[in-house]
Amino acid sequence: MRRDEQIRVIEELMQHLDDGTNVDAGCQVRNPVSSYTSADLATREWKSFFQNYPQVLGLSADLPEPESFFTSNDLGKPILCTRAADGVFRAFLNVCRHRATVVEEEPRGQKKRFQCPFHGWTYDPKGALVGVPKEGHFGKIDRECNSLVELPAVERYGLLWVSPDPGASFDVDALLGDLGPELASWKLERCQRHADTRFDHAMNWKLAIDTFGETYHFNTLHRNTLAGSFYGNVQLYDRYARNHRMMLCMKTIDDLRGKPQDEWNVLHAALPVYYLFPNIQLIVGQGGPTLVRVYPGGPNPHQSFSQVGFYLYPEAFESEFREMIGMRMEGFGQVIRDEDYVAAASGHRGARSGAVEYVTFGRNEPALHHYHNTYRDALGLPPLETVDQ
Ligand code: FES
Ligand SMILES: [Fe+2]
Repeated sequence: MRRDEQIRVIEELMQHLDDGTNVDAGCQVRNPVSSYTSADLATREWKSFFQNYPQVLGLSADLPEPESFFTSNDLGKPILCTRAADGVFRAFLNVCRHRATVVEEEPRGQKKRFQCPFHGWTYDPKGALVGVPKEGHFGKIDRECNSLVELPAVERYGLLWVSPDPGASFDVDALLGDLGPELASWKLERCQRHADTRFDHAMNWKLAIDTFGETYHFNTLHRNTLAGSFYGNVQLYDRYARNHRMMLCMKTIDDLRGKPQDEWNVLHAALPVYYLFPNIQLIVGQGGPTLVRVYPGGPNPHQSFSQVGFYLYPEAFESEFREMIGMRMEGFGQVIRDEDYVAAASGHRGARSGAVEYVTFGRNEPALHHYHNTYRDALGLPPLETVDQ
């Protein structure tokens, strides 16, 4: 993050603390509960946001060296991501060109060759068909025309982007708005993979996203956990095209008071939480980033899951405190699972009950205004109804 932006963030958070204020969206908005329960809407979202929109599938650390790979089934189609010996990130539909069997079933690892379990056709990390057993018996195969189907894939700012549509093309910087240089400044490509986990939840995927959209709840829902280290109901909020950034206010911000500004480090005062449309939360802590990818269970409005990856900067990864730093990150993940997602799933049950027609996003919850209006706009829906209060 630019130096002047770090200073602005710290000063504004201190000002909010001193004045007893918070970021202000200027109005409330009402979100119909059907946005969480409608099967029709869920189908449109699945198609528009998850079948036809570029996805962040991981960080560079998920392919740590040449010939590493990982597989993904989160988008309802099997995907194989590789880093070949040339170091380049590529993605493919993980589907054999013989009889469409899934080629690689392992979640991740390192391989020079991917052999289909059915008849043994073999592909290299660039997707080329390099082996056909008993080709003399099978008949001639035009190998050029039988590579794995490649998906558009880009590695930028330490993030791995893939389009699930083989015919699509995309521009990461256009997707990010002005966020690219700031993401570059975190040097996420330096990180190493620490751990990952998956949380399944009986709720609409957007309810999971919503839990990251405000700190109004910290002093109640997280009173025994995060409220010990964060000031609740104090945050900064900035938009970047369809994405946004929240800066959560850490209590250690008070250590900076009275210190010269050139000694200020924004990560000592605030926790950046980036939302990347449509389903990513990227949390950049001092030890390293946490990547949360939230997915609907296909076009089902009532089921979703989160893939959570914890990564460490080399300084943390190699330090004697690695275990402690990692445990602290994973503890944050447990808070998401045991507190945020429990409250959010409760909200889903309430939404289905028919008790209320809409939920209200307050003036102190601008991320929720923006995020919901963004996805509505992407689907051609009108913006949320505003209420001046
Ligand atoms: S289906 Fe893959 S080798 Fe036959
Ligand atoms: Fe929370």
